[in-house]
Amino acid sequence: MTRTTFALTKLRSWIALEKHAEAIRSVHLRTLFSQDPKRGERFCAEVADLFLDYSKNRITDETIQLLVRLAEECGLRERIESMFSGEKINITENRAVLHIALRAPVNSNVSTDGKNVVPEVHAVLQKMSGFVNRVRSGEWKGYTGSRIKNVVNIGIGGSDLGPVMAYEALRHYSDRSITFRFVSNVDGIDFVEATRDLDPAETLFIVSSKTFTTMETMTNAESARDWLLRKLGSCEAVAKHFVAVSTNAEKVAAFGIDTENMFGFWDWVGGRYSMDSAIGLSTMLAVGPEHFFAMLEGFHEMDEHYRTAPFERNVPALMGLLSVWYTNFFDAHTIAVLPYENYLKRFPAYLQQLTMESNGKSVTLDGTNVTYDTSPIYWGEPGTNGQHSFYQLIHQGTRLIPCDFIAFVHALTPVGRHHDILLANVLAQSEALAFGKTHEQVKSEGTADWLVPHRVFDGNRPSNTIMADRLTPKVLGSLIALYEHIVFTQGAIWNVNPFDQWGVELGKALAQAIIPELEGTESPELKHDSSTNNLILRYRQMKEMK
Ligand code: F6P
Repeated sequence: MTRTTFALTKLRSWIALEKHAEAIRSVHLRTLFSQDPKRGERFCAEVADLFLDYSKNRITDETIQLLVRLAEECGLRERIESMFSGEKINITENRAVLHIALRAPVNSNVSTDGKNVVPEVHAVLQKMSGFVNRVRSGEWKGYTGSRIKNVVNIGIGGSDLGPVMAYEALRHYSDRSITFRFVSNVDGIDFVEATRDLDPAETLFIVSSKTFTTMETMTNAESARDWLLRKLGSCEAVAKHFVAVSTNAEKVAAFGIDTENMFGFWDWVGGRYSMDSAIGLSTMLAVGPEHFFAMLEGFHEMDEHYRTAPFERNVPALMGLLSVWYTNFFDAHTIAVLPYENYLKRFPAYLQQLTMESNGKSVTLDGTNVTYDTSPIYWGEPGTNGQHSFYQLIHQGTRLIPCDFIAFVHALTPVGRHHDILLANVLAQSEALAFGKTHEQVKSEGTADWLVPHRVFDGNRPSNTIMADRLTPKVLGSLIALYEHIVFTQGAIWNVNPFDQWGVELGKALAQAIIPELEGTESPELKHDSSTNNLILRYRQMKEMK
């Protein structure tokens, strides 16, 4: 069932929100907090092990009511049900969207095309666990009989960003006797630097690619095979040093990897929604099956909450609706995600693909052009580093940048006063953004008149704060599922398909055409535009000069 584009901006709730936004625009968070001393306790929600404070948003109770009404009018509840019940909601690829099945408990039933997929999911998880235990215990030996001490994941996009992010996030729980590296870029330096100090006899490559055709991944995998064979000599070594994660058994076999050593997943798992599938093999190798299963539990708790909680208390729905509020009614173009936890340093990069590859769309499900903005740009850095870099713009710049702060009560490895200082900073930032510092306050500090405008903070800059006890595998799972469902909520409101990515195809096809033009010794006639032709010719000439 699809709505027309026209309908969104004509919905009663949308029109009401437009009117309401006019009124809210001139209201300062200072006023909202002073009118309601309990605001900070009221605008909160809890799910799994996460606590959300959304009181520092430019909202009132009426805003939430209207946003919830918008969600209802857009059929969010029905869409959630369609996803969970295995309908082919990825209509442009005629696929179900069932990443929620990847973390469904073993006895549950998640079906598509009349088939419960949960048993297959758990069969793969069992196969992964068995393999992981053999590698971690040293039972799995390399070709020369050495124990595996290095694991290199080769993949890109969803076959890289999730594994890297999770490895970094869960490093505290990882087996430090194994070195993990991640190769994604087709820039050869990525592979060279990742393997420079590794002994091939002790190295296991995981070639992670849903399609097993991605140019970057296959180029890197071929270089890895050459590197291994150069050092170990025999083709038989490949079986001991390469495993694959893919949906494409045929291509895996053609590459020379025994399909016994292939870990499968399914076309109903999108690349950017796959880090808890077999694509997470490197994560499981790093932290062990138990922690991996705890992570899945965290995902599942968030899934259940998203499916069942009323929207007023539904954390992913609320956060998704708030992002719509700022994108469409306050003309905000970006959202900053700012984890005050260094282990989450790759989380913003991971979210970039999840959010922008999903909802960076300009046609609706029925193919008409949207008449409103869709995905904001997601970006971020861990605090406190960002404070000494781009926060100036968030505090005093001309743009409205809603922020998601993420903080943990306990440090995983406490060091002196560090953690209290870290937490004081995250709390200070959201306070400063919301309340600012008035002209009068600055003046009363004895600031010279000419300097006052430079030192004024307008405030009224919105943020969410997500807090949890500590960064555990389970909490990580909940956090990732939270953002997956925020993206789903946005997609449902904007009536776009968050599960395809046709926008990446054109560049891929053009690159395939240009490769022989750069590599070839003969000079085929160039048929591009004059700029591209000229750049190709220049490249060729300079390449010849060495
Ligand atoms: O180019 C985009 C993309 O298709 C992503 O959606 C995907 O995560 C990535 O490429 C890698 O794809 P694969 O896992 O098939 O190599």
